[in-house]
Amino acid sequence: MTTSALLALYAVAIIAAAAGWLAAGFVAVGVGAGREPGSRERWLVVGLAAAGALATVGAAVATVALAARGWWFVGEKAVLGLPLAAIGAVVGAVGLVRWLRGDRGPLGRVLLLAAGYAATAAALTTWLLGYPVQQAAAFVLVAALLLAVGLTWALIAGRGRRAVTGFAGLLVVLLVGGVGWSWLADTAAPSLEAAGHAHAGGDAAAIGAATAAASGTRSVDELRTPTDGAGPVRAFELVAAQRSVTLASGEQVDVWSFGDALPGPELRVTEGDLVDVTLRNDDIDAGVTLHWHGVDVPNGEDGVAGVTQDAIMPGGEFRTRFVADVPGTYWYHTHQASSEGVRMGLYGMLVVEPADEAVADVDLALPVHTIGGEVLLGAADGAQVQEVEPGSTVRLRVANTDRPPLRVLLDGAPFVVAAVDGRDLPGGDEVEDRAVRLAAGARADLVFTMPDAPMRLAVDASRASTLDLVPPGAAASARSFDGGDAGPDVTDAPELDLLAYGDGPAPDLGPFTAEAEMVLDRMPRFVGGVPAYAYTVDGRVFPHIAPIVVREGDVVKLTIANRGFDVHPMHVHGHHVLVLSRDGVPASGAPLWLDTVDVRPGEVWEVALVADNPGIWMDHCHDLEHAAQGMMMSLAYEGVVTPYDHDAHGNRPE
Ligand code: C2O
Ligand code: CU
Repeated sequence: MTTSALLALYAVAIIAAAAGWLAAGFVAVGVGAGREPGSRERWLVVGLAAAGALATVGAAVATVALAARGWWFVGEKAVLGLPLAAIGAVVGAVGLVRWLRGDRGPLGRVLLLAAGYAATAAALTTWLLGYPVQQAAAFVLVAALLLAVGLTWALIAGRGRRAVTGFAGLLVVLLVGGVGWSWLADTAAPSLEAAGHAHAGGDAAAIGAATAAASGTRSVDELRTPTDGAGPVRAFELVAAQRSVTLASGEQVDVWSFGDALPGPELRVTEGDLVDVTLRNDDIDAGVTLHWHGVDVPNGEDGVAGVTQDAIMPGGEFRTRFVADVPGTYWYHTHQASSEGVRMGLYGMLVVEPADEAVADVDLALPVHTIGGEVLLGAADGAQVQEVEPGSTVRLRVANTDRPPLRVLLDGAPFVVAAVDGRDLPGGDEVEDRAVRLAAGARADLVFTMPDAPMRLAVDASRASTLDLVPPGAAASARSFDGGDAGPDVTDAPELDLLAYGDGPAPDLGPFTAEAEMVLDRMPRFVGGVPAYAYTVDGRVFPHIAPIVVREGDVVKLTIANRGFDVHPMHVHGHHVLVLSRDGVPASGAPLWLDTVDVRPGEVWEVALVADNPGIWMDHCHDLEHAAQGMMMSLAYEGVVTPYDHDAHGNRPE
C-alpha cells in the first residue's frame, strides 16, 4: 500500500473511532438515568462502542505501517494521538461495562463520551499539531480534552450552574488562548536570516552594507555580479506591462507580460556571456521583479522582492547582471506576488548555448503555460506545424511554467532526455513511447534525429495544443497516429523515471557536514495573520519556518517528506541539488541535479546540496499558489543579512 493510502486509511480510522465512541456516548445519554435501556438501545450502544474500538485498532495498525515508512509520517500520532485514543478506548470500555450493568450513575455515560473526545483529540493531533509537534499546542490539546470531560461530567451529573460555567469558561479561555498563541506564532518575527541576525525591518537603507561590514556580516546587496565582470556583454531590456495579446487561436487575452507577446522575449546567449538585463515596470501595479529560475546567480541578482531587492513599482527600473556559466535551459519570471504575476504572463525563456559544442540544427524553447483557458506550447496555442529536414538534429527544450505537473510525450521517433533543469544528463538511452514528467518550474531537453515521417510533441495539459514536426512537402498534420488522428495519449503513456535514467559516475561531494529535514503538510494556520487551510513546512508557514542554516562549504543532506495529499515541486534558489534517493531507493542513473524536486504525496526524497553560493535563498513550492499559502522558507548562510523587508514597500516575496 502506498504511504499516501496509509495516511488516508489512518485518517478514516481515527475519524471513525471518534464517531463510534461519541455516538455510543450520546445514545447512552439519550436513554438518561431515569429508565432501563431497551435491548435495542443496549445493542446499539454496544455496536457503536465496538465500532469505535475496532477503528482505534485500525488506526493503530495504520500507524505501525506508517512508522515503517518514516517517522515524519507518524511522529505526533505515535507519541500523542494513539496513546490518547488507546486510553480513551480503555476508559470507554469501562464506561460501557458500567452502563450495561445497570449502573445509572453519570460515570458510565461520561466515560463513553470521554472515549469519543480522546479519539477526536487524537485526530486533531494530525490536523492541528502535525510534525514536529510543538509542545505548547500539545499542552492546549490535552488540557482542552480534560476540561471537556469535566464539563460533560458537570452536565450529566447535574453539578449545578457554577461547575458547568467553571469548566465551560476555562475551556473557552483555553481555546481562545490556543488560537491566539497560534496566531502569534504565525505572525511573530520572521525567520529568513540565519539565527543571531534578527531582521532589522524598516527602511532598507538603515542596515546597508556599512552596518553589515561593521558587524562582520555581509548584506545581500554586496553579493552581486561585479560590474567589471569578464565575458562578452549581452544586453537586453524587458518592459513589464499590462497588454492585450491575440493568441494563435484568435483568442484575445489580457495579460501582464515582459514583451509584446507571450511568452516574454526568448533570451538566447552563449556560455560565458555576461547577461545584462534592464527591467522596467510600465504599469504593473502589484510590482514586478526578475528571477532567473535555475540559474545559480549571485544572491543579489536573484530577484526576490523583500529579500534580495525591493519590488519594482510602476515607473521603476532594475538592472541585473550575471555570467551565463552553465549551458542549459532556464526561464525567468517575476518573484513579486508570483502566484498572480506568473499566471498572468510574466515569464519567458533563457537559453544558454554551449560555447564549444555544436547547437542542434533545430533548437526550440517551449514553455508550456496556461492562460485565458488556452495552453500555450511555446508561443502558440492549438496545433502547430513546423517543417524539419529529415536527418537534422532537433532539441526541444520544454519547460513547465504552470502550477500542476506536466507530462510530455514525443511521438514518432526515439529520443533522449539530454538535460534536465539546466544540467546535462549523460549516457541516457534512446526511449520511445515514454512520457516525461516535468514538475512545476522544471525543464527537460528532448533530443532526436528527425525521421522522414512526421513527429508530434503532445502535452497532457491540452489535447489541442500540439507541435508537429514534418519533413518538407509532407502534408501538414497528415500523419496518422496509431489509434487515429487524436494522436498519442499522453495520460496513459508509461512515465520515464529520471532517477534510473542515464549513466555516469557519481560525483564525490565529500562527507555531509550538515543535515536538514523538510516535512510538507497541509494544516489550518494563519498566513499573514489570516486564517487559511495553509501549506506548511515543519508545521509552520512563511515567514516563520526556521531556515535551513548553512556555512559556505557545507555539504548538506536534505530530507524532504510529503505528509500531505498534494504534489509539492520544491524549488531551491541559487543551487542545484543532487538526488540521492526517493522512498529509500537510491538514484541509479546519471547524477541527477535538479533545481525543482517533484515530491509527490507520501514520498520521501534525500538530496545533497553543496553550499557554494552565499546568500539568503528562497526555498519553496513551485505550485506558486502553495507558496502564497505558506509553503516558502529560506536557505540562509550564516553571516548574510538582508536590508529588505518582506512585509513593507509593497513587497510580496512569493
Ligand atoms: Cu521559479 Cu522562487 O521560483
Ligand atoms: Cu506545493
